[in-house]
Amino acid sequence: MHKDIQQVLLSEEQIRDRIQQLGQELLRDYGDKNPVFVCILKGAVVFYADMIRAFDAHCEMEFIQISSYQGTQSTGNVMIRQDVRKDLQGRHVVILEDILDTGRSLAYVCEHLRSKGVASLKICTLLDKPEGRAPGVTLEADYVGFHIPNAFVVGYGLDYDEYYRNLPYVGILKPEAYA
Ligand code: XMP
Ligand code: MG
Repeated sequence: MHKDIQQVLLSEEQIRDRIQQLGQELLRDYGDKNPVFVCILKGAVVFYADMIRAFDAHCEMEFIQISSYQGTQSTGNVMIRQDVRKDLQGRHVVILEDILDTGRSLAYVCEHLRSKGVASLKICTLLDKPEGRAPGVTLEADYVGFHIPNAFVVGYGLDYDEYYRNLPYVGILKPEAYA
């Protein structure tokens, strides 16, 4: 285990097994719809790469980059740094996200993608921290990998100031690691 990690919350195996199950759920719901899977950069990229390979039917890939976090705090000011390229009019879109916390980022992205005239829009998140939701945010995910407690987690795409994204598991960062 990495020296800055206090506890492994989700092992590689647990994540792998859950993604296979989510792939089956998505296949049942989208197998004949040629969905567009939208990856929210950068945090969701590891989950995305595994998730699309667990979906055994036609699908298309798109990427959107937003920013809102500095260190371990959401700034609440969500910005789109890079938009999707494809015309999403009339398409069935599934957003793949690493973590639903305050819900501000996803609320913003959902509104943005809806305005493009999608046929349907759903959210698939690897992690959900139900206690993290900001006041007034009622958004929920349609597919959730794991519900987790209200701790700052890193790994499997999730970062603390860009570090730890390459850990193959999800872990709780030691408080002394937030320098
Ligand atoms: P919100 O608060 O908008 O957050 O739902 C979504 C984005 O914030 C980042 N985030 C985290 N990143 N550990 C991280 O490494 C966390 O515990 C955490 N909570 C939120 C993440 O990038 C996500 O896309
Ligand atoms: Mg992040």
